[in-house]
Amino acid sequence: MEPLQWADDALVIVDQTVLPHRIHRLTLDSVDGLCEAISALRLRGAPALGLGGAYGVALACRQAGDPGHPDYMQRVEGLAHRVAQARPTAVNLSWGVGQALEALRGHAGAQWSCLALERAIALHQEDRAACRRMSTLGAALVKHGGRYLTHCNAGPLATSGVGTALGVLLEAHRQGLDFEVLVDETRPLLQGARLTTLELMEAGIRVRLITDSMAPFAMARLGVDGVFIGADRIAANGDTANKVGSYGLALAARHHGVPFHVVAPLSTVDASCPDGGAIPIEERSADELRGHAGRTWALETVPAWNPAFDVVPADWIQDIVTEEGLLRPPFTISIAAVLAGTSKPLLKEGTQE
Ligand code: MRU
Repeated sequence: MEPLQWADDALVIVDQTVLPHRIHRLTLDSVDGLCEAISALRLRGAPALGLGGAYGVALACRQAGDPGHPDYMQRVEGLAHRVAQARPTAVNLSWGVGQALEALRGHAGAQWSCLALERAIALHQEDRAACRRMSTLGAALVKHGGRYLTHCNAGPLATSGVGTALGVLLEAHRQGLDFEVLVDETRPLLQGARLTTLELMEAGIRVRLITDSMAPFAMARLGVDGVFIGADRIAANGDTANKVGSYGLALAARHHGVPFHVVAPLSTVDASCPDGGAIPIEERSADELRGHAGRTWALETVPAWNPAFDVVPADWIQDIVTEEGLLRPPFTISIAAVLAGTSKPLLKEGTQE
């Protein structure tokens, strides 16, 4: 199930808000439609948002009218800016928009539409390859007979490939390892319960669904050998923003001595954020906490705080699996090195540590 695909001059996505019970595809042929799909989490997950951003520039080029018009380039940039702003935390979104805009630089407006699409397709292929590399590297961290915990959805639906954190578990299973995965349901939109369990069960991996608040007790009572999460933005010092609940999970993991692994492509690293304090945190409607799909369980007037993400301090993270290798603390150094292209992966593909 490809979460997004370009077909007939439009972006076709799987509407992730109605999974797992329905597979409903939406054809997005305008920037407005794309922005709505991103804000409503129909298209979601940091790497998939990066691709959505790049395809969004291709849509912007088509929507901006006559490429010969003196305002064409300004219109495209204005529309692209709206896509980049559709959600604030996953840096991949503005990264994808920036990558596609970069491909247009120095070319005539008449070529923009094709060039933006070409760049988006290239990023799509690169993301798939990055997922493959991360999953192979990360699978070396999984042991036969273990029990692992994951949060939100960092699988194929969040990327164009096998996924990030979930890709690691899918690859370990493919290699023949048997283990169990505890899946946080993930408040408030239940991406874990709806999407992650679907992907793991389809692969034949043993799964148990838990609420987010059960995770610390699961570590104490059941025992957990590791936590694998994806990321929406990683600061230069390794502080990592991910779906809200990740902070509490990392705190509990630290208390119980459980290794906490982050799996993310380098497009998720934002070197311009020195630390997590500089990462913008999306705050969503209080209605998501008061009820769902027209049904409310809290008073409609109750005030609520609904941050969609939180930030895990770098000190609580054991390693960050990227497509360029496995980064270890101190992350300020390992991240700077990998971004400078000088790092040597600490774990080579196919090797066990
Ligand atoms: O709000 P979402 O569903 O877009 O949040 C997604 C997550 O937090 C994922 O864990 C993250 O994007 C990593 S994706 C591989």
